[in-house]
Amino acid sequence: MTGASSGIGRSFAERLAAEGTSLVLVARRRDRLEELAADLRRRHDAEVEVLPADLAAPVSRRSVEVRLATGTPPVDLLVNNAGVGTHGDFARLPVDREDQQVQLNVVAVQRLCSAVLPGMLDRRRGHVLNVSSIAALLPVPRSATYAATKAFVCSFTDSLHEELRGSGVVATSSLPGFVRTGFQEAADWSGQDRLPKLVWLRAEDVVADSLDGAWAGRARVVPDLRYRATAAVTSVVPPSIRRWMLGRTASIVD
Ligand SMILES: NC(=O)c1ccc[n+]([C@@H]2O[C@H](COP(=O)([O-])OP(=O)(O)OC[C@H]3O[C@@H](n4cnc5c(N)ncnc54)[C@H](OP(=O)(O)O)[C@@H]3O)[C@@H](O)[C@H]2O)c1
Repeated sequence: MTGASSGIGRSFAERLAAEGTSLVLVARRRDRLEELAADLRRRHDAEVEVLPADLAAPVSRRSVEVRLATGTPPVDLLVNNAGVGTHGDFARLPVDREDQQVQLNVVAVQRLCSAVLPGMLDRRRGHVLNVSSIAALLPVPRSATYAATKAFVCSFTDSLHEELRGSGVVATSSLPGFVRTGFQEAADWSGQDRLPKLVWLRAEDVVADSLDGAWAGRARVVPDLRYRATAAVTSVVPPSIRRWMLGRTASIVD
């Protein structure tokens, strides 16, 4: 379970621990992970391992790959949830930060899947749940790298889902809409207050829909009816109109 120290990841950890799942919690902030682990052990009698790592840094990420590939007990559910966004005109954003975003949102997802899948296939059971975003389906001016990384997660997971068919292992992506978490602040985006209340989802609901979809063996989950409707409409709007609409929206909620 990556990105467990905050937001949607913390809600995943809460829900899974309450269901009796043993957890390995990954994120950079050890103190937050330790505090969450102690809380989950006390309230749910859960078995919780803490594995602090920077998933955007190859050497640090390696410890998580090794745990997934050879550690015990084996991991039967990998939730690739850790992710960051950036906000601003691409040409003005520091390229190193964009690169870090690709390392975390794309490379880490790919490498952790690569580490965990062989063992799952040997055991003929397992789930991979990759957290994408509704942004995967749209161009997002002023978050160009973010939207592209999330499109990668969707496409990659769709392909894995088909490759794994009949193997006992399932890959699912989840495409949430807006959730108030540490994400907006980390992305230096202050425009969220201009968004209508209607667009906001609760992390607990996103987690419930995502896990239900994964257990049901689905390739993609779009949590919440409002966003499922948005996704359906978006899929039939011509790309040129989609780009124009998103360009206008980006300038309103900047
Ligand atoms: N919030 C939204 O509106 C929204 C919408 C759609 C999709 N999502 C996706 O949902 C996922 C979770 O985001 P969130 O909204 O819960 O944001 P969040 O509250 O900022 O949580 C992000 C998590 O990722 C971890 N993380 C960040 N950089 C990391 C790194 N280099 N190595 C390891 N862990 C790292 C953070 O922990 P540390 O800082 O301790 O490392 C934190 O636990 C992301 O993939 C995001 O793209 C969010």
